[in-house]
Amino acid sequence: MSDMSERSPGGPRLREALEGIPSYKPGRPAATGGPVSYKLSSNENPYPPLPGVLESVSAAAASVNRYPDMACTELYAELAERFGVPATHLATGTGSVGVAQQLLQTTAGPGDEVIYAWRSFEAYPIITQISGATSVQVPLTGGAEREAHDLDAMADAVTERTRLIFVCNPNNPTGAAIPRADLERFLDRVPGDVLVVLDEAYREFVRDERVVDGLELYRDRPNVCVLRTFSKAYGLAGLRVGFAVAHEPVAAALRKTAVPFGVSQLAQEAAIASLRSEDALLERVEALVKERTHVLAELRAQGWTVPESQANFVWLRLGERTAEFAERAEEAGVTVRPFPGEGVRVSLGEPAANALFLQVAAAFRKEV
Ligand SMILES: Cc1ncc(COP(=O)(O)O)c(C=O)c1O
Repeated sequence: MSDMSERSPGGPRLREALEGIPSYKPGRPAATGGPVSYKLSSNENPYPPLPGVLESVSAAAASVNRYPDMACTELYAELAERFGVPATHLATGTGSVGVAQQLLQTTAGPGDEVIYAWRSFEAYPIITQISGATSVQVPLTGGAEREAHDLDAMADAVTERTRLIFVCNPNNPTGAAIPRADLERFLDRVPGDVLVVLDEAYREFVRDERVVDGLELYRDRPNVCVLRTFSKAYGLAGLRVGFAVAHEPVAAALRKTAVPFGVSQLAQEAAIASLRSEDALLERVEALVKERTHVLAELRAQGWTVPESQANFVWLRLGERTAEFAERAEEAGVTVRPFPGEGVRVSLGEPAANALFLQVAAAFRKEV
C-alpha cells in the first residue's frame, strides 16, 4: 500500500459547514460566594420537581443498566390522550432543541434556506448551519415596545429554496406572542411544501387569548409542526425531553432521524408523571405568570420600555449598556442572560429573585 500520510497533513477533514458556527451559550450559573444568588439566565422553572415526579425518576433509576423504551410507548400514549392527537403524529427527542435539529435533518441541507426571526432562539442559527443550509434572518418589528415577528417580511422572504421556517411563539428572548389572525394569514401565504415549525416551548405561560394554540392550527395543515418541551413549565430541563406534533410523513421522518435511545427512561417516566400531576405543576406556572405581571408593571413604573411577555422571562433592550447591566445584576446576586449590544433576558424566578432584579433595574434606570 502506498504511503498516504502526506494526503492529510492537517488531520481528519471536517465539514466546511461547521466553520464559524457560533457556540451555544448556556445561561451562567448563579454566582457563588455572595450572600444570596439566583439564576435567572436560562428560563428554567425555579421550583424543584413535584414529589411524585421525583419518585418516578428514582424508581426508573434502579434500571439504568437497561436501555430505555426506544419507542417511548407509554409516553406517546399519555401525550396522545392529553393533547387529543394520534400517537403516530408524535415524535420525541432529547429536548425540543434535539427535535428541532432532527427537523432540519429531515428537511434541509446545502443549498436550502431556513427562515426565522432575529433575534430569536439562539439555537436556530447553530442547528441550521450544522445542517449545511443557509439561514435567512428576518429582523423583529415594532421597536422596543413590541419586539415581534415580522410575519409579512418572513412570508416575503420565502423562495424556491426555502425548506423550513421557525416561528418562535412566544419569542425567546423578547416574550412577544403572535395573535391567531396574524399567524393564520402567514400560514395561508406559505407554500405547502415548506415546513412551518411553531416552536411553543413557552406555551403554558401564554394568557393572552388572542394567541392561538399551535395544536389547533396543525390539524388541517400538513405543513405545520408544533414543538413542545418538558423543560420549562414542567420543570424537567435537566432530563432532556421534548416532542413534536406533526402529520405522519413529518412525524415518521422525525422518528427515523432520532438518536437511538436518546430519551432516557428517567426522562420518559418523569414526563409521564408530570403529565399526571399537571394540575399541581400548572399552579406553579400560574404563580410565575403573576410574577410576570408584577415585574412588567414595576419595570414600566420605573420608566423602562418593555415588550409584553407571554413567556417566563422579560426582555430589556439596553443596547451598549447590556454587559454593564448584567455585571451589576451579578454583583447584586442575580445572573441574567446578556445578548451583548442588544439587551438582557431575565427569567422569572422566585419572588425574592425577581425583587432583587427589580432593585437592580431601578438603580440602573436612575443612572440612565
Ligand atoms: C424557543 C425555545 N425552543 C426550544 C428550546 C429548547 O428547550 P429544550 O431543548 O430544553 O426542550 C428553548 C430553550 O431555551 C427555547 O427557548
